[in-house]
Amino acid sequence: MPVYVVLLGPPGAGKGTQAGIVAKATGLAHISSGDLFREHIKNQTDLGRQVDAILKRGDLVPDDVTIAMIRERLKQPDCAAGAVLDGFPRTPAQAQALNGMLAEFGGKVDVVPFIQVQQDELISRLSGRWVCRAQGHVYHETFNPPKTADVCDVDGSELYQRDDDKRETVEKRIRVYFEQTAPLIDHYRGEGRLTEIDGAQAIAKVTEDLLKALPEQAQ
Ligand code: AP5
Ligand code: MG
Repeated sequence: MPVYVVLLGPPGAGKGTQAGIVAKATGLAHISSGDLFREHIKNQTDLGRQVDAILKRGDLVPDDVTIAMIRERLKQPDCAAGAVLDGFPRTPAQAQALNGMLAEFGGKVDVVPFIQVQQDELISRLSGRWVCRAQGHVYHETFNPPKTADVCDVDGSELYQRDDDKRETVEKRIRVYFEQTAPLIDHYRGEGRLTEIDGAQAIAKVTEDLLKALPEQAQ
């Protein structure tokens, strides 16, 4: 049976960093809704044109558009063993839709690690973040620097700073998270699927705690 992990946490908590490491360690696919939107924007697809301004503002893309994109992604062959979902679901309607989609693949949301980090730390993480152009590998100029400045360690591509990592947009994204996504914490806690992870620890320690929280068949 496939295993599905939903990473919850505010912008800058380390969802993308950890999802990449955990997916590699377990053989699960890494599905980042934000990376998928940014890929569409880069390729100037219809969807990319539709969502570009929304991401720049730090608002959420409408549920129907987001759900349709994730539904297609989950059907890809690399998701056969399951997936680490990074940034989806982000609203109660998306969480409900996800249950329906996973049931079609004979699966369910197995575990929801909730990565917790204080707000001032989130802002300093996002303002120092650098991302690789080719595949979205994530760095921080102080906390997790690349070996060579401005170059991705993994694929050698150029590093850039995201449009939505400007201070006022970061603050907006954190507000949107508290208003629209934070209710999912109690929702998944009530279902007994939530595991709290201290995201203020070093990256390797957060990974260790995350791997322990996964169901046995994924470890
Ligand atoms: P998305 O790309 O998902 O952005 P986000 O949720 O705001 O999260 P981030 O990517 O900013 O943070 P992260 O938790 O991944 O942290 P990271 O690992 O990079 O979404 C972007 C936009 O797309 C949204 O605003 C919305 O418009 C749209 N969207 C996406 N999904 C949607 C959905 N489901 N519905 C509707 N709209 C949607 O780490 C951050 C920094 O910290 C890095 O520099 C990293 O090196 C550093 N770092 C990581 N861990 C540590 C650590 N332990 N110690 C020190 N530094 C660390
Ligand atoms: Mg991310």
